[in-house]
Amino acid sequence: MAALDWLYPSKAVLAPFVVLGLFLVAYNVGTVSKPCQIQQDASPVSSEPRMQEPCPLPGAGRFSRVKLNSTGLLSFPGSGNTWTRHILTTATGILTASVYNNQEDVPLTGIRGRAQRVLVVKTHNLDKLPFSLDRYVIIIRNPYDCLLAAFNRRSEAGVPFQQHIAHQPKEAFLDEWDTFVDGSMKHWSSNYLNWSKLQKPVHLLVYHRLLAQLEPELRDVIDFLHEPSIHPMIHCAARDKEGDAHRQKEEWQEKFAVFSHKQKRYLNDAIDTVQEAWEKRTGKNFADFQKWKRP
Ligand SMILES: *[C@@H]1O[C@H](CO)[C@@H](O)[C@H](O)[C@H]1NC(C)=O
Ligand SMILES: *[C@@H]1O[C@H](CO)[C@@H](O)[C@H](O)[C@H]1NC(C)=O
Repeated sequence: MAALDWLYPSKAVLAPFVVLGLFLVAYNVGTVSKPCQIQQDASPVSSEPRMQEPCPLPGAGRFSRVKLNSTGLLSFPGSGNTWTRHILTTATGILTASVYNNQEDVPLTGIRGRAQRVLVVKTHNLDKLPFSLDRYVIIIRNPYDCLLAAFNRRSEAGVPFQQHIAHQPKEAFLDEWDTFVDGSMKHWSSNYLNWSKLQKPVHLLVYHRLLAQLEPELRDVIDFLHEPSIHPMIHCAARDKEGDAHRQKEEWQEKFAVFSHKQKRYLNDAIDTVQEAWEKRTGKNFADFQKWKRP
């Protein structure tokens, strides 16, 4: 076995390496435990931002311990409301609620107190709210994309776009789509015009801007909420950009989701009117809405 002696060196030869190894282990344990010690020392009522705190699990949150001013997250269906709520919770650690009783949601259940313990309350319709809220974050998305997403998610249909196409004669599908767009485009523009006149503080959150530059747009929302008890961790939301509610537009949608000339004329005009109304309301520039128009 002499040939294998190099594999089993004597204890005397190994000793310095064992000592060095133990030293390195001790050193690393010390380094790793430092953030834990900081957390233990930090007072739970401290108003200092707790920079060392690890990011929460994506979308995991708790109710606020202090009362917040109630805030609606208002949007036309298909404007990224669910994804935005997911991102907001990841960035603040605070839950959001919904006036719709989806099983996975925190329901509002008509209790005013609950609206003050969540960051925002989702709704697509002010008439759905059991009571009025203190202020609103309103999400707006390119109406062409928004109507397509809304068609996909209509609860009464419950059948996504792709299956609509697969399971119906093309003519029947096109009829249904056309009727849907005719009705919804009027609601889209009427809603965003009505909401621009809300007698409560409002912040307009532009969906494509949120996608393109998540951190500054999120910071604007958090600034608008202006809640001293919230210590945002915006970088946590940036890490979780692809929340599970965020879906990509697919090629087959581009092919079938056609808008008639009349619909395009209506929507392109609506984009102008809505842009103007919101510039007047907020004093901000929404010239980027012009890119939504279709020829
Ligand atoms: C917008 O307001 C007008 C006037 O109050 C109302 O008739 C209309 O139904 C509202 N639009 C929507 C979509 O609620
Ligand atoms: C919260 O609501 C109170 C009462 O409506 C108001 O005075 C206060 O300015 C609000 N705070 C924020 C940050 O909106």
